[in-house]
Amino acid sequence: MSYGNIENITIFKHPLIQHKISMLRDKNTGTNEFRKLVEEIAMLEGFEALSDLPMEDVEVETPIEKCMTPMISGRKLALVPILRAGLGMVSGVLALVPTAKVGHIGMYRDEETHEPKEYYCKLPSPIEERTIVVMDPMLATGGSAVDAINQIKLYGGVNIKFMCIIAAPEGLERLNKAHPDVQIYVGHLDRELNKDAYICPGLGDAGDRIFGTK
Ligand code: PRP
Ligand code: URA
Repeated sequence: MSYGNIENITIFKHPLIQHKISMLRDKNTGTNEFRKLVEEIAMLEGFEALSDLPMEDVEVETPIEKCMTPMISGRKLALVPILRAGLGMVSGVLALVPTAKVGHIGMYRDEETHEPKEYYCKLPSPIEERTIVVMDPMLATGGSAVDAINQIKLYGGVNIKFMCIIAAPEGLERLNKAHPDVQIYVGHLDRELNKDAYICPGLGDAGDRIFGTK
């Protein structure tokens, strides 16, 4: 593998994240539990991914005295799920930063070529002033993530992070090469893609498992 900027890749080792990903993989995990796990993993990953959020000192009066004390500048954060499956991660991160704005990018993979087709894009403005967290549980070929971030940059987005639950080596390499400035957070790096561009061992189709479709 060759990367554009390996320093911008975080692959989580935390036992809670690994345990929950193993539960997600199980084909017997039903829709309700699957959704909850995706939300919890997104929250755990988000805790780390947001560790450099901009803060501002605000005045607070404690029972003892007034003081200046740091708070997160929530107006400066945008969460951008890639539809559909990325939607499942939003509530987990919103639980950490309820004031964050949420944009949406609609993408689906062509079944033959596996290349992404964009069908929707709506981002909070001013996008150029925000820390943007793009989220999608699966980074397979990397096509969807690369195109989504291309689109966000066209709209003026600058400070961009990408959070996924499972990545294939092929997708991680492609995303990092195309966007070496983007910080990437990966819950688990899997073995490879199969001939249908599904991640192995993976968890199957994330969108279908979150929304109970097939
Ligand atoms: C899945 C997944 C990613 C994409 C990853 O979405 O949620 O968006 O595939 O694959 P890639 O890295 O090869 O682009 P899908 O196209 O199945 O759409 P859905 O979320 O609407 O089910
Ligand atoms: N999209 C999914 O939902 N799963 C994969 O394994 C690959 C792409």
